[in-house]
Amino acid sequence: MDATLELRIRDRIETEKARTAPPPDAVPVPLVPTTRYTDPAFHDLERERVFARTWLFVGHESEWPEPGSYRLMTRSGAPIVVVRGDDGVLRAFYNACRHRGAPVTRDECGTARRLTCQYHSWSYGTDGELKAVPEERSFAGIDRDELGLVPVRCETWDGWVFVNEHLEAEPLLSFLGPVADQMAEIDGPVMRAVGTQVHPIACNWKLMVDAFLEVYHVRTVHPDNAALLYNDHATTVSMLPKGHSRLTVEKHDVFRDFPMVSEELDNPAVPTLWRQTSTSFGIFPNLVVPMDTGAFTFLCMWPTSATTTDLELRWYAPAWSGEGVPQEHLDRMELFDTVMAQDQANMAPIQASISSPGARPFQLGWHERLIHHFHRAVDLAIGVDRLPPGTAVSDALDGFVEEA
Ligand code: FES
Ligand SMILES: [Fe+2]
Repeated sequence: MDATLELRIRDRIETEKARTAPPPDAVPVPLVPTTRYTDPAFHDLERERVFARTWLFVGHESEWPEPGSYRLMTRSGAPIVVVRGDDGVLRAFYNACRHRGAPVTRDECGTARRLTCQYHSWSYGTDGELKAVPEERSFAGIDRDELGLVPVRCETWDGWVFVNEHLEAEPLLSFLGPVADQMAEIDGPVMRAVGTQVHPIACNWKLMVDAFLEVYHVRTVHPDNAALLYNDHATTVSMLPKGHSRLTVEKHDVFRDFPMVSEELDNPAVPTLWRQTSTSFGIFPNLVVPMDTGAFTFLCMWPTSATTTDLELRWYAPAWSGEGVPQEHLDRMELFDTVMAQDQANMAPIQASISSPGARPFQLGWHERLIHHFHRAVDLAIGVDRLPPGTAVSDALDGFVEEA
């Protein structure tokens, strides 16, 4: 990995371990109003200005293994089908027939030469073009060339596939900025899907994101697992451009160089620093990725309403030999589920408290500033002028955003 970056992260961890007061450059983190998590108008704006206009993670390219492979994505709010064309290119479209709007696939995933609407059987090629209209003789003046499926942006970086409904959005790679290079250390193209877990949670999606942007809670919430492995005092965070972030927490000395994965399932691409720490990337808006050798997960927070969320864990690991998923990966998923259950236990009660007259703005420590950074990016994506009164966070930390 980049030697300058590694040195900077290691230096900062040492400084963090040694300090007994806030660092000299720390400032008070401005309050986070809780109406951001409860106001239906705020939620509508997020749907319209954040989820419909930002790159959203949908999977790994190996999950579309051949021409005609398709998968349906509905978690962002719009029905989107991602399909690999006969030319091998991944494309995304709204799952909406140009005749009268019925879905062109009802299956979650599959392989097809054509996407055929089940209402009146208009059918489309894997490139989205309208190929056949039954009873075409009854459609006076129809121009099939104009009636392809409506496109959604779809781009792949290092094997990871994202979609964006905003046709004028900047390219995925420039959106990801420094995160792209740093995450590519994991060697994305060799990955393969291990499995997916979905947990419905009774809280606003941002509460769940917040929980993955700090390790302050590790000793209290995860005393029997993560706290044994990680030293929360040895943590450094970076606010990266566009609401992205990086959090690195060092393992306790006794585990620092202890192999967590069997040799045959290890990912040789993973740099030493990431083996000796947990390094996770927050990718705006709804993705947190704790990088690891062996199996690791993309944590996706999908709002299902203003006050409910689906936490989707999409697990990947370097391609292994043999058919079934190695037991070691399944064990890791199960252990991680225990950690997730501990995280989730707080969510519904917090949502209840911030929905009550007892609600007060959140007070964040300097070590929790990634949360403020994420919320500020939500505001900027919505547009500060559009925010409901009293919901905005401050711009006071904008000067602390780092380039890498
Ligand atoms: S709505 Fe698709 S064929 Fe009629
Ligand atoms: Fe946690």
